[in-house]
Amino acid sequence: MGKLFLALCLLSTTMLTAETNILTFSGSTRTDSVNKKLVKEAGNLAKQLGANVTFIDLKDYPIPFYDEDLEREQGMPANAKHLRQLIIQNQAIFIASPEYNGSLSAVLKNVLDWASRNEAGAPSFEAFTGKTFVVMSASPGPGGGARSLAHLRSILEGIGGKVISQQLVIPNAYEAFDSQGKLKNPQKEAELKHLVQQVIR
Ligand SMILES: Cc1cc2nc3c(=O)[nH]c(=O)nc-3n(C[C@H](O)[C@H](O)[C@H](O)COP(=O)(O)O)c2cc1C
Repeated sequence: MGKLFLALCLLSTTMLTAETNILTFSGSTRTDSVNKKLVKEAGNLAKQLGANVTFIDLKDYPIPFYDEDLEREQGMPANAKHLRQLIIQNQAIFIASPEYNGSLSAVLKNVLDWASRNEAGAPSFEAFTGKTFVVMSASPGPGGGARSLAHLRSILEGIGGKVISQQLVIPNAYEAFDSQGKLKNPQKEAELKHLVQQVIR
């Protein structure tokens, strides 16, 4: 009985891990973005735990600011469709949000706005309902971008996303990563790993 229980546990862990498709991206398009480094490292840790991880750079998917006239006249832009489908296809989404003036970046908010519409130009929360979101932020300031996460969490929950309660901020972020993009502080690396484990297990 004990062996059977153990085998079932191992099987379910393997299945969960193997089936976990994770999309990772940062709300910053900056080439040397500390948020890209952070979310990539989170993705690497998730891969080590067996997840299927896709990293995307929003710089590769430029989309116009959401505009109802544009949507009605031209439909959803191709890159917005692509980003929305990527979110839909993944079970969990890791987002590293830069903090701009105490909030999330316009680039990130714009992606969320487009993704909250369907291709017929109507509201649709398919990209958010039932999805698990993990949010994190890195900033050169002492707050680590925590204020951006409060807004991001509120938006995601408002459109049906399940944002896990744990989150991670990296203050003084310009000094936080080594040349390989890894967190220098072992405590922060451990916190990031713990955050990732909340989703994979
Ligand atoms: C318009 C603007 C507003 C900013 N506001 C904040 C802020 O409120 N809090 C903060 O910690 N950093 C702020 N910063 C600094 C960013 O955290 C910093 O540029 C950071 O590197 C952005 O993230 P990234 O490295 O991922 O691009 C701001 C930067 C810009 C350009």
